[in-house]
Amino acid sequence: MGIFLDHLSSIGLVKLLFSIAAALLSYKIIYALYFSPLRHIPGPFLARITSKRNQILSMISKVGISAQHEYETYGDLYVLEPNAVAISNPSDVRTDRISIPVYLGRMEPAILKHGYLALKNVWEERIGHSLNGKISINYMKDFALATFDTIGALALGQEFNCLKQNDDDVTKWATATTIWHVSRAAVPLTKYFPFSLLLGPLEAKFKRPAIANRKELLRTGADKPVDLLQAFIDAEDPESKISMDDLQVKAESTVAIAAGSDTSSVSLTWAVFLLMAHPKIYARARNQVRSNFPVDHVITYAEARSKLPFVEACLYESLRLCPINASYFPRVSPPSGITLQGHFIPPGMEIHVNFPGVNHHADTWANPLKYDPTRLLNNDEAYRSLFTFAPGVHICPGRHLAKIEMLTILSNMLKDFDMALPEDYTHLGPNVLDANGFPKMMESAHILIPEPVNPKRDCRVILTKRSE
Ligand code: HEM
Repeated sequence: MGIFLDHLSSIGLVKLLFSIAAALLSYKIIYALYFSPLRHIPGPFLARITSKRNQILSMISKVGISAQHEYETYGDLYVLEPNAVAISNPSDVRTDRISIPVYLGRMEPAILKHGYLALKNVWEERIGHSLNGKISINYMKDFALATFDTIGALALGQEFNCLKQNDDDVTKWATATTIWHVSRAAVPLTKYFPFSLLLGPLEAKFKRPAIANRKELLRTGADKPVDLLQAFIDAEDPESKISMDDLQVKAESTVAIAAGSDTSSVSLTWAVFLLMAHPKIYARARNQVRSNFPVDHVITYAEARSKLPFVEACLYESLRLCPINASYFPRVSPPSGITLQGHFIPPGMEIHVNFPGVNHHADTWANPLKYDPTRLLNNDEAYRSLFTFAPGVHICPGRHLAKIEMLTILSNMLKDFDMALPEDYTHLGPNVLDANGFPKMMESAHILIPEPVNPKRDCRVILTKRSE
């Protein structure tokens, strides 16, 4: 009898829970369709009811593809979550071309040393050992190691020498740690064992006391190094004059490591991939570099900006076509609310910038999915419509560093080396076209950023010392 009653009451409990869930769902649907201030804005039905939809797309690495698809389906403004809209019209998300701050300019020798010059040394040494003067490189891997060495030297004052030792252990741990931090924010349970083990090996590598070492160095009377670590140590709030404590400096350095290596290296990877897929554009970029600079000259950022507008356009056009942040970045509607695309967005609502939507915006970019660097030539307005580094107060603070790093690597590489696709590279390239008639893109997945999923197969070029 007791078991029977228990059974009945558990059925009752299930029914009760089911009824509560059904009532909650009905409430959400009725609110979304008849009362939400966003009800007149287009968007997917599920997005009006739950924010989980967007989170799940992120977790299964599909958010980039869906951002592009949603822009194409719903246009410049649409509902992304019950309290969030997404925007794609560049006029709603303005940005400016800003020049490089003086202090960062002084870091350029270090950026060149750990970036392009290190790559050049490694490639020349390998070419020197090769019987036919040719080597096959996985450029995604080499760029990743070089950008990691660069940010490691600048943010921790540490020489990792990952590129020289061809060691990608540290870079893998840095990526794993970033993923761990992001998932910890989304799913707090991952904060605990066994996921917490992810941090251990990375911390062991970073445990060398960067800040203590730096203070010790300065005590010996050595010149103050010009790098990010020193900038963080010296920084003070302009009003209160308070500086950061050691923990805060360490946090800044760690964020710079997490945010500042894969972003630049994957951007460079897409740039080289697109040049290889468009031989005429590659030839034009290479000719511009070689007609402006002699072989033994190391091109600086300022020189590249003033003399190599086409090379710069090639880089930015690849950042437009394959934005490294190919999903959404949230902002909050101001206290007075804001009207976008004729719709009033009340205060406190989230407004997410749809990166692929903005960068492929049909009314802004003619033939948006075509790789065409000429669209940026002598066109400041077009540069302003690019949203590579995000708009507003959260604009990427590492953008100047990334620009120096990427443009000096690309320009000098075009000057010193000839690049060609390997003979067995037949699955992609200039003659393998997609449905739009453009060279097919590498398959990529959006984990933290949209990375090629098969770099060993897709990111290969044959490198030789320049022949002319
Ligand atoms: C091609 C290279 C890069 C791209 C495309 C890029 C892009 C971005 C974007 C779009 C954001 C904004 C995120 C948001 O709106 O919340 C961002 C934030 C950030 N980036 Fe970059 N970034 C690059 C390189 C770097 C480098 C080299 C560093 C470090 C030295 C860096 C450090 C940061 C930091 C610390 C933030 C957070 C800023 C904040 O929340 O206020 N990034 N980046």
